[in-house]
Amino acid sequence: MQAYRLERFEDLDSLTPHDEGVRPPGVGEVRVRVRATALNFRDLALLHGRYPMTCRPNLIPLSDAAGEVASVGEGVTRFKPGDRVVNSFFPRWFGGRFPSSSRAEQYGSDRDGWLAEEQVVSAEALVAAPPHLSFEEAATLPCAAVTAWTALSGVTVGDTVLTQGSGGVSLFALQLAKCLGARVIATTSGPEKAERLKVLGADAVIDYTVVPEWSAPVRELTGGDGVDRIVEVGGPGTLAQSIRAVATGGEIAMIGFLAAGESPIDFGALFLSGATLRRIAVGSRADFEEMNRAVSQHRLRPVVDRVFPFDQAVAAWRHFDSRRHFGKVVIAHG
Ligand SMILES: NC(=O)c1ccc[n+]([C@@H]2O[C@H](COP(=O)([O-])OP(=O)(O)OC[C@H]3O[C@@H](n4cnc5c(N)ncnc54)[C@H](OP(=O)(O)O)[C@@H]3O)[C@@H](O)[C@H]2O)c1
Repeated sequence: MQAYRLERFEDLDSLTPHDEGVRPPGVGEVRVRVRATALNFRDLALLHGRYPMTCRPNLIPLSDAAGEVASVGEGVTRFKPGDRVVNSFFPRWFGGRFPSSSRAEQYGSDRDGWLAEEQVVSAEALVAAPPHLSFEEAATLPCAAVTAWTALSGVTVGDTVLTQGSGGVSLFALQLAKCLGARVIATTSGPEKAERLKVLGADAVIDYTVVPEWSAPVRELTGGDGVDRIVEVGGPGTLAQSIRAVATGGEIAMIGFLAAGESPIDFGALFLSGATLRRIAVGSRADFEEMNRAVSQHRLRPVVDRVFPFDQAVAAWRHFDSRRHFGKVVIAHG
């Protein structure tokens, strides 16, 4: 069984394949034949030493995978051999409030992840893959899609949602917000991406390279009210604009730190906004299962930028690191 390990958090020379054994599944465990994995910004943050949480070197990287059940251990009734599965981002967060304990452990930083031909995990750490999706599509769901779904919780028909950029979380947020019947205003960095966002359903798109103070057109587009929900992936470089673009009683779902910059919180603007700031931590297994019902109902298809074969996993990381993607970068394990 081949597995890649990220030996050091430095550069991609430290991502190397190894021949490893795979243990049989124990009580309550499942052996998964991994068919596809997907990259997230988190994987680059880990690689470049920018991940804001503690992480162990020399683990198998990647948090997101889809595959089929190869065999099950004693007592497993949740899945049977041949079932198509995807992993939950947090293997031990099943529902309820986000756990602040070791139950919040993560793949690729606390324990081995999925860039391997096979992996053995608890049956409780997996969910059924939506039947209409290929393995390559299903592998994009655990982090980016569930995060977008959680960020949109409570959004209802007729609400206005603002998404930032065209990364994995933002494209899922756009697609899922449209499924929920919301109007979507998207920001992006150029006319070509703006067109693609419109094709995906964005009602209005603002180029933040042309209009860095994008909260002003957002206010205009909403009759002065502001937006009901902001899927805030920019962080330090975008939060100040988000506070100015959100409606009274709206919510800023704080997710990421893509945009560099200093954005000290303007207390007066935040106070006057009447908005709530909610920190998102991907989502639980229950959130994932709820989202999959919506994904299946609407036959939502993830936007896949490019698929690389397993033996070119390093090239997939390099492509993702070049920041030229639109949609998810996927590795097909065969
Ligand atoms: N808290 C959580 O649970 C959680 C979960 C998942 C991800 N995250 C975080 O969320 C962020 C997004 O993750 P991802 O995997 O979706 O990233 P990604 O796919 O790497 O997103 C890249 C895209 O972000 C956009 N971008 C870059 N700078 C921007 C800016 N100044 N303003 C607006 N958009 C900008 C660019 O699109 P354009 O060129 O179109 O602007 C770029 O193509 C990351 O910081 C990640 O760590 C957090």
